[in-house]
Amino acid sequence: MTWAAIATWKMGALGAKISADILAKGGRASDAAVEGVSAVEDEPQFHSVGYGGRPDRTGHVVLDGGFMDGDTLHYGAVASIEGFRSPVRIARSLAPREANNFLCGKGAELYAEKNGFEKRDNLSEEAREIYEKERDRLKKLSAYDGHDTVCFLTLDESGSMCAAVSTSGLFMKDPGRVGDSPLCGSGYYADSETGAAAATGLGEEIIKGSLSFLAVFYMGHGYSAMEAAQKAVDELDEKLRRRNGKAEAMSLITLAKDGSWGVGTNVDFPFAFVSDTQELTLFLAAKKDGKTVIETI
Ligand code: GLY
Repeated sequence: MTWAAIATWKMGALGAKISADILAKGGRASDAAVEGVSAVEDEPQFHSVGYGGRPDRTGHVVLDGGFMDGDTLHYGAVASIEGFRSPVRIARSLAPREANNFLCGKGAELYAEKNGFEKRDNLSEEAREIYEKERDRLKKLSAYDGHDTVCFLTLDESGSMCAAVSTSGLFMKDPGRVGDSPLCGSGYYADSETGAAAATGLGEEIIKGSLSFLAVFYMGHGYSAMEAAQKAVDELDEKLRRRNGKAEAMSLITLAKDGSWGVGTNVDFPFAFVSDTQELTLFLAAKKDGKTVIETI
C-alpha cells in the first residue's frame, strides 16, 4: 500500500511537508490531514485561512472548517466561528459524535471553549490594514479576492483516507455567510473504499453542484481520479454558463484509494502533491483551449 497527500494552492505545500512526515512514518491519514491544514491556519502570510485570514464586512475574522474520516464516513464541521486557533481541529473533534456534528456561530464557540480548544484573535495587523483600505470601496466581490480554501486529502499505508479543509471564506462576506467549505459533500468528501475530493473557489457556485461528493461518486463508478475531478467541474461549469451566462472560479482536487490524483478547474490553480514515490511537488493546473493542462511549477 502506498501513502499520499494532495493539497490546494501554494500554501498547501507548507502543510504537505508535515503530512508527508507523518505518513512516511506510518502515521494516520487523519493526523496527516489535520496537521497539514493546521500548519497553514497558523501561518499569517496566507490571507484566506486562520490567523491573518480575511475579515467579513464588519471587520471580524470568522472561520469555517471541515473534516471527514473516509473509513467511518464520520464528518465534523464548524462555520462562522471566531476567536479560536484551529477550526479544523475543532471540526475533527466533532466527527465521532452520533449527532451535533456541524456547529456554527455561538454554538461552535461555546463547544470549543468548553472543550478547551486554544483561543486566538485571528485578525492580524496586516489583515486589519487591508480591511480598512477596502472597507469603503467594497468592490464587486470576486472569488479570488483573498478567498482560497486550504484543503488536504490524505491516504495512509493502511488504506485509510481523510479530507480536511479550513478557510476564512469570502473577503468582505456578509456576517453569517457560509460557503461550501464546511459543507460535507460540497467542500469535501472522503470514502476510503473509493477516494476523496475537496473544493476551493466561490462556495456559492460549488454548492450548486455538490462538487466533492460528485467527484467521489464518479470515482466509485469507474472514472479515474483525474477524469472524476474534471468531469465534475466541467459539467457544473458548462451548466452554470448555459443557465446563468457565467460560472465563477471553482477548483477540485481528488485522490483515489490507489493513491492516484486528479484536478479539475476552470481557472489557473496551483496545488501540491507528495507520496511514497513522488517527492513534494508544486503543480499548476491551467485551462488551455478548454482542456486542463498540468505542469510543474
Ligand atoms: N470556498 C470557500 C468559500 O466560498 O467560502
